[in-house]
Amino acid sequence: MTETPELPSADAPEPIPGAAELFTLDPAVAHLNHGSYGAVPAPVREAQRRLSAEQEADPDAFFAVLPERVAAARTELAPVLGADPLGLALVSNVTEAVAVVLDSIPFGPGDEILVTDHGYGVVTRAAERRAAECGARVRVVPVPLELLDPAPAVLDAVTERTKVALLDRITSPTARELATPPLLRALAERGVLTMVDAAHVPGMLAPDLEVGRPDFWFGNLHKWAFAPRPTALLAVTEAWRERIRPLTYSWEHEHGFPFNVEWRGTADYTGWLAAPTALRVLEGLGVERVREHNVRLAAYGQRRLVELTGLPPLPGSERLAMRAVRLPAGVAEDEAGVRQLMRAVGERLGSRVAVRPWVGGGVLRISAQVYNRAEEYEKLAAGLGELLRAG
Ligand SMILES: Cc1ncc(COP(=O)(O)O)c(C=O)c1O
Repeated sequence: MTETPELPSADAPEPIPGAAELFTLDPAVAHLNHGSYGAVPAPVREAQRRLSAEQEADPDAFFAVLPERVAAARTELAPVLGADPLGLALVSNVTEAVAVVLDSIPFGPGDEILVTDHGYGVVTRAAERRAAECGARVRVVPVPLELLDPAPAVLDAVTERTKVALLDRITSPTARELATPPLLRALAERGVLTMVDAAHVPGMLAPDLEVGRPDFWFGNLHKWAFAPRPTALLAVTEAWRERIRPLTYSWEHEHGFPFNVEWRGTADYTGWLAAPTALRVLEGLGVERVREHNVRLAAYGQRRLVELTGLPPLPGSERLAMRAVRLPAGVAEDEAGVRQLMRAVGERLGSRVAVRPWVGGGVLRISAQVYNRAEEYEKLAAGLGELLRAG
């Protein structure tokens, strides 16, 4: 079923008192793209600064107990996902987690890795590289932008060759929910291993890691969970933990997962140690309150974009703090067009948004975070219409 969704007449939420002041973003810019790089609150940066000072005061003492401190940080972070701390490893980012998992799965000739055309570009390319090395192949399932339920299209593409489904929990270019727990269960019932790219999940969606039980799950904490960059978590089901192949061989190798994945020799681990502070900042604001605020503000922003530009909204993001609209045919259909539009939106409208190329008209995504205000979306919506009309 495909159709343009009706948008509820969402009002903008009241700002959460004191929340915007936690950030040091340039007030001259409307930062409507939290989804790409996140933003780190000042108290979290201060926690990391203190850790760096401690490190530089006595590097020997700092590094002597660092693996234990990393493990303690992970134990504090695990409840965000409702996960077992020993089933999780801290990693730098989703890019790294994907590499670790793909390297750990033995692919043979003819095996297929299922992805969709909403997947994050570099994640799909990592799967393609691994598949090519093993004589396997990546099969891309097209999910039309207006399709309300992508699950049947994904399940229809499963064959006896499908070894892995690598799917986004929340898609990056199109801001929609895709790898939902029912879809993951249906894939598991068909004997398909599931790899969930949950880059946007921590801090945005309530934990549902255990519900769908994907074999591999990875999410960034430096997007919606306010952690310093780069901080992410990789969750692995018990059956696979011993078979995980870390990218590097380290002194923690013999301790197995998660220690062998976490320890990469001498490196700066202060961001990971500061990640629990990020969690406390989020909890201090109220995790549910932040979620509700962001979802309502994103809905408001999308509604105003639709009303003032006439662009159609994309479906599937009703619970998310990111929303997308479809750009007219001929706009942002390739990378050059994307760069041109993002530059124009930045320079002429003073706004940061995400734009991804799509044949037939690109996709423009907005995010909402506690530091955003309704007026920023009003200004974007009014200006974007003019920008597109001017060509
Ligand atoms: C869905 C998705 N996967 C993967 C990534 C890559 O994340 P990172 O650069 O932190 O590895 C992103 C980044 O925006 C993303 O949105």
